Amino acid sequence: MLIAIVIVAALFGLLFGFDQGVISGALPFIKQDFVVTPFMEGVITSAVPLGAVAGTIVAMVTTDKYGRKPMLVLGAIIFFVGSLASALAFDQYILTLSRLLIGVGIGASAMTAPMFLAEVAPARIRGTIVSAFQLMITIGIMVSYMSNAAFGASGDWRWMIGVGVFPAIIAFVGILLSPETPRWLTLNKNADKARDIIAHLQPEATDADLDRIIHEIKESAHEEDAKPAWSTFLKKGILPVTSFAMIVFVLQQLSGINAIIYYAPEIFKQAGFSGQMTQLLATVGVGVVNVALTIVAMYLVESIGRRKLLILGFVGTSISMAVVTGATMAAIPASPYIALFGIFAFIAFFAVSLGPLPWLYMSELFPLRLRPRGMALASVANWFFNFIVALLFPVLLSGIGIVGTFGIFTICCVAGIIYAIAVAPETKGVSLEEIEQRMVMES
Ligand code: GLC
Repeated sequence: MLIAIVIVAALFGLLFGFDQGVISGALPFIKQDFVVTPFMEGVITSAVPLGAVAGTIVAMVTTDKYGRKPMLVLGAIIFFVGSLASALAFDQYILTLSRLLIGVGIGASAMTAPMFLAEVAPARIRGTIVSAFQLMITIGIMVSYMSNAAFGASGDWRWMIGVGVFPAIIAFVGILLSPETPRWLTLNKNADKARDIIAHLQPEATDADLDRIIHEIKESAHEEDAKPAWSTFLKKGILPVTSFAMIVFVLQQLSGINAIIYYAPEIFKQAGFSGQMTQLLATVGVGVVNVALTIVAMYLVESIGRRKLLILGFVGTSISMAVVTGATMAAIPASPYIALFGIFAFIAFFAVSLGPLPWLYMSELFPLRLRPRGMALASVANWFFNFIVALLFPVLLSGIGIVGTFGIFTICCVAGIIYAIAVAPETKGVSLEEIEQRMVMES
């Protein structure tokens, strides 16, 4: 039962990645069917992260009240309707609206699915959940690139987007068959039902174990669910944590990652690869490298540690972005290949460091009682800057060209090196309580 539930929750990560990545290969063909200026291109693409800002806020308010399961059922329905509507859209405006809807589903499930997983899984495997969810997102992005390449020859963008309907149906059926989390049930005065579910999830648990688990949930709830006022996040002891969790996400987004995730085929074209199939296949390569290095990251965060890995990531992405900028500026015969190499190197450095680390930091740094709201704040920062990059990239590309645009990303990555050296804490092997004490003392 536990395995089935984990697979269902992971499907939401996959859908999240799929619906983020799929637009990249579809855009060049959408441009042939609809009237799409560079600004409109940004609007269509950035509708997803904009919707996600809203979805994050909605989920934050409703999951405590109505439960994790109803939120995820709703999320699956939104994915289904949104994918179908965008696949059938007859103009650029319907397409934008349906992508806005998909974004709401992404934002809501990115908040709820990891919470659902963490509350269902036994404590000992909770730690791997954060990185496992990020891995599912990258797998979803890779699958969308493969779908794009598969339908690339016929140029059928409606099918590229439409295949997202199938995982949405599986997720819908799966979540309907899943139980509500024991934790939410206990907190909402239904401890008996919670006990039954835990007995199902952990068949080896004795009666005494079950009593203890329910007791622990009630104890921890006392601390965790006393909702802190939003102003708490500005207080002297907490402000450093709030600002770090948010700024590291802003820098993650300004590195340019989602310019590549959303617009890779267009970037390859501007770099000098004219064949549409070549562009789509190179994009599949981006997806594969992203997945592979995210797996490596799961080991490196524990061996090298967070701080060193973050600094290394910003150094690596700065150099890679500089290589892309320099290669396109030089305009020599080898330029396209050097730029391609730079983009792959960027993805590798990002996936091993800047990708998963901000998510990990945000789940480790906030004191327990501030964690849900703190994580929501950080997620909103992440989605909002994702939106800004997605919206402005096509306009920048057509206005100041690939050299200028990637030059800006290079500068942002260098700013990241400086910020990481000055501020990034080490949390490897430190207990959450110790982290809390240290952050409060430093301020
Ligand atoms: C991280 C970023 C997200 C990006 C993804 C790419 O999760 O937060 O914006 O799309 O990595 O793998």
